[in-house]
Amino acid sequence: MYYLTTAIDYTNGSPHIGHAYEKILSDILVRYQKLKGVETFFLTGVDQHGQKVQQSAEKEGIHPATYAAKNTKKFKKLWEQVGLDYDGWAETTDDRHKACVGKILTQLKEKGQLYKKSHQGFYSVRQEQFLTDRDRNEKGEFGAEWGEVVELSEENWYFKLSDHAQWLQDYLGATPDCIYPSFRQQEVINSLEKMHKTDLCISRPKERLFWGIELPFDAEYVTYVWFDALINYLSFAGYLAEPDSDLPDFNEIWERPVHVIGKDILVPAHAIYWMAMLHALGFKDEQMPQFVVHGFWNAKGEKMSKSIGNIIDPKELAETYGVDALRYYLARDIHTGKDSDFIPDRFISIFQTELANDLGNLCNRTLNMTVRFCEEKTLNTPSDYTLAELDQQLQASLIKTKEEYIKHMDIYQVSLALETINKHVKLCNSYAEANQPWALAKDEAHKAQLHNCLYHIIESLAQIALLLSPVLPEACGKILQQLGAAELANTTLADISWGLIQQPHTVNKPKPIFPRIQLPETQEQA
Ligand code: MSP
Repeated sequence: MYYLTTAIDYTNGSPHIGHAYEKILSDILVRYQKLKGVETFFLTGVDQHGQKVQQSAEKEGIHPATYAAKNTKKFKKLWEQVGLDYDGWAETTDDRHKACVGKILTQLKEKGQLYKKSHQGFYSVRQEQFLTDRDRNEKGEFGAEWGEVVELSEENWYFKLSDHAQWLQDYLGATPDCIYPSFRQQEVINSLEKMHKTDLCISRPKERLFWGIELPFDAEYVTYVWFDALINYLSFAGYLAEPDSDLPDFNEIWERPVHVIGKDILVPAHAIYWMAMLHALGFKDEQMPQFVVHGFWNAKGEKMSKSIGNIIDPKELAETYGVDALRYYLARDIHTGKDSDFIPDRFISIFQTELANDLGNLCNRTLNMTVRFCEEKTLNTPSDYTLAELDQQLQASLIKTKEEYIKHMDIYQVSLALETINKHVKLCNSYAEANQPWALAKDEAHKAQLHNCLYHIIESLAQIALLLSPVLPEACGKILQQLGAAELANTTLADISWGLIQQPHTVNKPKPIFPRIQLPETQEQA
């Protein structure tokens, strides 16, 4: 089973474009596996515990549970709106998750992996966290951003992270495909040195943080939010679930899961804490996850943040420009692993050129011509028709398009796959220009050539709709329907080859699928 998870989003605010990008990218990757005919399980959800949620709720004067539930709704609603097709939904306040976290903590304690000790150090009252020397400024002081800093001694529970450092080092050395892109794997290896010396504090005393999962063996403490959150990948896959639970069968789901996460949460949370936790629980090397680490969307080169006020709202974009425009832009204008700048003008111009002008127009005018020029809207090229060079070129390009598409999609480079598709669409447009079916239609003697030309484009459109369907599932369903080929919707990738559409073939009347975004004249782009 192809099991793919996303990071679970903090519910201390509303979803922003970064959250939407990660979820849409993941949805595309899962749909691509489905297109290959692979069985999949897609898990996403929200991270509801922790200090940030507790503090934000306090500011609003409401209970953190109410606060988290309110924001959770916004995430769920947006994911529905943008067409995420997930199988499992993770909420860390879910009783089934809490039970799993409790069982894991108990197991680790029984295995001697947890211990309690007292830590003395500098504590920021404002940020409610212990500080280390790395938090000191150039002058060697704790800067104003930390507020009042006091020396404090506190007892807590620790996980023996250092026990797993050597294993992790060896594992990463022997498994080069653990992290994509590979330069990130080197980054993790470089950060391992510290791990040999440090253990992980996994508890918070309730007197300073009550909004978390209570430790099953020490009621004075709640679980550290990361330790709790990471376990969602297991708990919602049915790990240690009660036999009568409605969660999936863990053994069916968990082979070598794919975790899609942003670059900020690879080290130390996922690559170190999570890997060590799985190892401590007895997971074998071949069961360890693979990470797809994506970059960030920035706004005019700057990090998006509430304080700068430059956060881009995906809901607004979807409502104004449509879900297709949003999904396509987020898939098209970034290379997986790299950062990208969110540029509103590009958002619009990419839609106008690649979807409205190139694909939308091709589809609309080809179908219109078929309806107008072919009897009974039916294509029927004589079987002994001799192909011209242009026809052969178009067929060869379609074969190459599929090959390149697979090559890029297999390494998560959706943008390059879309670029390849767009090239073929453009070729189809020039093919139409070169053949001039509107002129061929004027002379009965050119009937065979007319049918052959329209057929070549219609066949291309059917194949393209299938290849594009992971990115634009709804729109591609509509394309197939208009082509009169709705029954092809479940074709698997391996079966996409010349001749999907068999003649005689009747098409349907077209309706524009990607109408141009209407802008005030001064802003007209492409
Ligand atoms: N709750 C943790 C994850 C726990 S996973 C067990 C968290 N949440 S988050 O809401 O801050 O981030 C969720 C995901 O969104 C992360 O993968 C993060 O990298 C990603 N992004 C946050 N801002 C982003 C951008 N500006 N651009 C792209 N992705 C970004 O971390």
